[in-house]
Amino acid sequence: MSEALNPSDKTSSSAWGGFYKTLENPVNFFPENFIARIFLSKNPVQCLEHDFKGKRLLDIGCGHGRHIPFFESLGLQVDGLEVTDEQVKALQQTFPTLNFYKGKSASIPVADAQYDYLAAVNAIYYVDDLESGFEANIKECTRLLKSGGYFIFSMVGAEHSLIQNAHIENKYAQIQQDFLGFRNDTWLRPLWDKDELADLLPGLELQKTGEVKETLDGFVRHIYYCMAKKL
Ligand SMILES: C[S@@+](CC[C@H](N)C(=O)[O-])C[C@H]1O[C@@H](n2cnc3c(N)ncnc32)[C@H](O)[C@@H]1O
Repeated sequence: MSEALNPSDKTSSSAWGGFYKTLENPVNFFPENFIARIFLSKNPVQCLEHDFKGKRLLDIGCGHGRHIPFFESLGLQVDGLEVTDEQVKALQQTFPTLNFYKGKSASIPVADAQYDYLAAVNAIYYVDDLESGFEANIKECTRLLKSGGYFIFSMVGAEHSLIQNAHIENKYAQIQQDFLGFRNDTWLRPLWDKDELADLLPGLELQKTGEVKETLDGFVRHIYYCMAKKL
């Protein structure tokens, strides 16, 4: 897809920067419930061994760094990825001792097999090129993981308000009614059905899947969260 067709570089990504500027208060640095469950839970389901100290995690599409204090509190050595210079600069100011890369899920400027964990919270499904598509994002994540490493991420479900009235092409959705207002025309790959997931992850073994569907004042948040292991 040409840049002209996908405005994400010019609008969405820089708009995220503006959005995050409103979140400087420490209260906005809280982990998503599914991240806390996957990393911390012992009962009734333990997902990961709790031996995080000194292991490396890349937070893909880390936003303003909401999950970084949580990951660091587990002893993880955290790097982050965001899409614009403006976002990377802001992250570097908030976390001056950490490394942040500028890049996109399909093209991450890091050598192979560097990470024990990859996290992508509400971020991995954005695609800039419908031809290489979501597959390119997963291929890149698989490349960065060490053998035996884990990829923990979320996908938008079919009932999510973000894709209400979206333009659909093949299995991709182009946002038309963004509740934040700045992602219209951006493409993403929803998970239309949970059973699609395993086939979308070549080179990875799907180990856990959760589903969250909640409605607040007419807004539907429908996500799947997933944990996959590099074979
Ligand atoms: C919904 S926010 C989530 C941010 C953060 N993970 C969190 O949970 O607070 C989505 C983030 O993905 C980033 N993003 C958008 N397109 C991306 C892409 N192609 N590759 C990587 N990140 C992308 C945006 O800049 C934005 O910060």
